[in-house]
Amino acid sequence: MTALTPPSVTENRATRRITVPLPSASQDGERLCAELESANILYFPQTPFTISPADRQTLLGQKQTSAAFHKNVAYRPAENRVTGLDKSESSEAEALRAILQSYSQNAARFLGELLPPYAGKWKLDFASYRPIEERGRPARLHARNDLPHVDAFPTRPTNGDRILRLFTNINPTQDRVWVTAPPFAAIAPHFAKTVGLPTQARNDFLSAAIRGVARAVNLPGARRSPYDHFMHECHNAMKEDSAFQQSAAKQRWEFPPNSTWIVLTDCVSHAVLEGQYALEQTFIISRHAMVRPELSPIAVLERLAGYPLTSTI
Ligand code: SIN
Ligand code: FE
Repeated sequence: MTALTPPSVTENRATRRITVPLPSASQDGERLCAELESANILYFPQTPFTISPADRQTLLGQKQTSAAFHKNVAYRPAENRVTGLDKSESSEAEALRAILQSYSQNAARFLGELLPPYAGKWKLDFASYRPIEERGRPARLHARNDLPHVDAFPTRPTNGDRILRLFTNINPTQDRVWVTAPPFAAIAPHFAKTVGLPTQARNDFLSAAIRGVARAVNLPGARRSPYDHFMHECHNAMKEDSAFQQSAAKQRWEFPPNSTWIVLTDCVSHAVLEGQYALEQTFIISRHAMVRPELSPIAVLERLAGYPLTSTI
């Protein structure tokens, strides 16, 4: 495991896991942001905020038998509600809502203190509870999380902003096991060839104007920039590419019970192989808050393309 003292942060060919001592001094924030932007994982052997024993017990489903505790559940902070549950699960929904609200608030407070360069420059996206055993979990190819991929949300385009996720393993006994493959900067040239970079025409004045109108009437997909289009195609292409899946250099990471880790999942190629019971909070961080903006996927892609790939309206 690497300690927190690399002399300088450079573009990575492989992801490293950085153990962060706590309390972390606020002047470390910029260094920690640079580690994340270099496709490294910030790792906390003990979760740096409290999740009460009662909340843990509820999440582990020892009191409830409902299906609500046997499927992934999303929490939307802006609306303060959980989604993904049936009406019959409304009593569990209230318990889950309260627990996820508290996790979400704690995660956001912690992140703001840990990473001052990002504080206030994010949109608090969804949190989730992941109670399903990942080993052998059935899913269609593009939804499989055991195949290394970078994240891209087709329904929540970022227009070049970053996807940062904070995970906590609440399983009392079992590790959550990930593998990582070479980060986006290393694989982008290959997938730019197989997927094809968006053509400049997609981003010309006319298409921007049409997007503006579509957005005004709330048409789905109206906010999807050429960047978002590419990132989603890349996510799919990585999972479809069996040669990449088999031969890419991989590293295995074990996240033990009660550990927390933070990752920019749009640049770290990641997959989960095993583990059950995790909490997660997603943040969409402004691309303008990056301390190494040249390492962002948008910058990598625009260098390859030679023209802008985000929308300005
Ligand atoms: C993923 O983002 O691919 C899944 C990670 C996890 O659930 O541990
Ligand atoms: Fe993912």
